[in-house]
Amino acid sequence: MSTTFTLAHLSDVHLSPIVGFTPRHWNAKRALGFINWQRKRRFVHRRSVADQIVADVKAQAPGHVAISGDLINIGLPAEYEAAALWLKSVGAGKDVSVVPGNHDIYTPIGSDPGVARWAAHMTSDDWGLAHGAASDRPFPYVRRLGPLALVGLNSAVETPPGIATGRVGADQLAAVARCLAQSAQAGLYRVVMIHHPPLPGLTRPHHELLDAAELAAVLASTGANLVLHGHTHLATVNTLAGLRGPIPIVGVGSASAARSRGTEPLAQYNLLRITGQPGSWQTTLTRRGLRVGSAHIVDLDTRVLP
Ligand SMILES: [Fe+2]
Ligand SMILES: [Fe+2]
Repeated sequence: MSTTFTLAHLSDVHLSPIVGFTPRHWNAKRALGFINWQRKRRFVHRRSVADQIVADVKAQAPGHVAISGDLINIGLPAEYEAAALWLKSVGAGKDVSVVPGNHDIYTPIGSDPGVARWAAHMTSDDWGLAHGAASDRPFPYVRRLGPLALVGLNSAVETPPGIATGRVGADQLAAVARCLAQSAQAGLYRVVMIHHPPLPGLTRPHHELLDAAELAAVLASTGANLVLHGHTHLATVNTLAGLRGPIPIVGVGSASAARSRGTEPLAQYNLLRITGQPGSWQTTLTRRGLRVGSAHIVDLDTRVLP
């Protein structure tokens, strides 16, 4: 029997304003990040735009919302708190899934819980725990969403100033292979979400996933129906040649961009309509967002993914 499920994908909201940058949290990376924010990014990422995008997402009534990281900017306790409240405004933990970005796991924060404040949006459900998800560590988590299994990976690691690289690591690589294999056995449509693009060559130097080749090899051999990522602030569709068919690798622009910056577009998000049944899924991607000269969110384009 054919089923339909709609997944909304947004990313890189970089919530503002940045408050609570006290001397206690000062270090070289935060200072440089703060200067960069004040000089450039604060003119791009607007909370009001993020709210407009979220209102439109809700109006589309998706079955689930996937957020691929960079909720905040320089890893301050007040930012984590603000993002936790914002996540609550998007939806309950069971309805909204998050993976951390490099701005969310940014630089040492002492005993502060950091992204653990968002745990309700980053944990496995009972189905996931019974089908390969790690039970002794937070990532990867696995959630059953109707006909889908969503596997959430953490690619964010603390890095020195000027470096925005990520790493999945051997443990997550082994676990994601296990989760994808078990989800395939269950006949589910398999979605992987990660902040950094999971293929080599999709970002500039010092911003890449350091073990992208290893992750791509796992995805290619195990198979997946869809991979969602953020980080680039670009709307892209790439394809990984999997052993059982092509795997679409989908990036999305920032959900808070009040103005375009370089090649980065205005605020937008993706709606992925998944129809079919095990063995014959079809995924239709509709981008919705702001268009130059319009204050309203509109359909930007629609395409069927490979
Ligand atoms: Fe970002
Ligand atoms: Fe990022």
